[in-house]
Amino acid sequence: MIIVTGGSGQLGRVCVFDLIEHGYDVTSIDVTPPTDPGIRFSRADLTDFGQAKAALSMIDERVEEVTGVVQLAAWRLHTKG
Ligand SMILES: NC(=O)c1ccc[n+]([C@@H]2O[C@H](COP(=O)([O-])OP(=O)(O)OC[C@H]3O[C@@H](n4cnc5c(N)ncnc54)[C@H](O)[C@@H]3O)[C@@H](O)[C@H]2O)c1
Repeated sequence: MIIVTGGSGQLGRVCVFDLIEHGYDVTSIDVTPPTDPGIRFSRADLTDFGQAKAALSMIDERVEEVTGVVQLAAWRLHTKG
């Protein structure tokens, strides 16, 4: 399982789809839900330690092993296109 933070963002969406295309299980953690309902998703504000811990713990309980984290959550720098 690979976790992509900010998986609903511009770079995050591309990263999530690319990982899935290459056969990885992926979970996005973001404050914004993904536009594609097929993406596994946990909503959390990662600036909130409690929410971040809860989201990561829940993922850890559901899957055998988290093998990677791609950190792309970021303050919004531009309007989504
Ligand atoms: N887009 C590019 O071309 C590009 C190029 C180089 C580097 N980057 C870097 O990559 C990162 C992501 O860029 P992007 O263009 O995808 O940005 P984006 O604004 O499109 O996406 C950021 C995502 O992070 C989420 N997010 C913001 N605050 C959050 C929080 N507290 N908790 C959880 N999720 C949160 C947002 O909801 C959003 O979906 C940034 O650090 C940016 O500087 C982007």
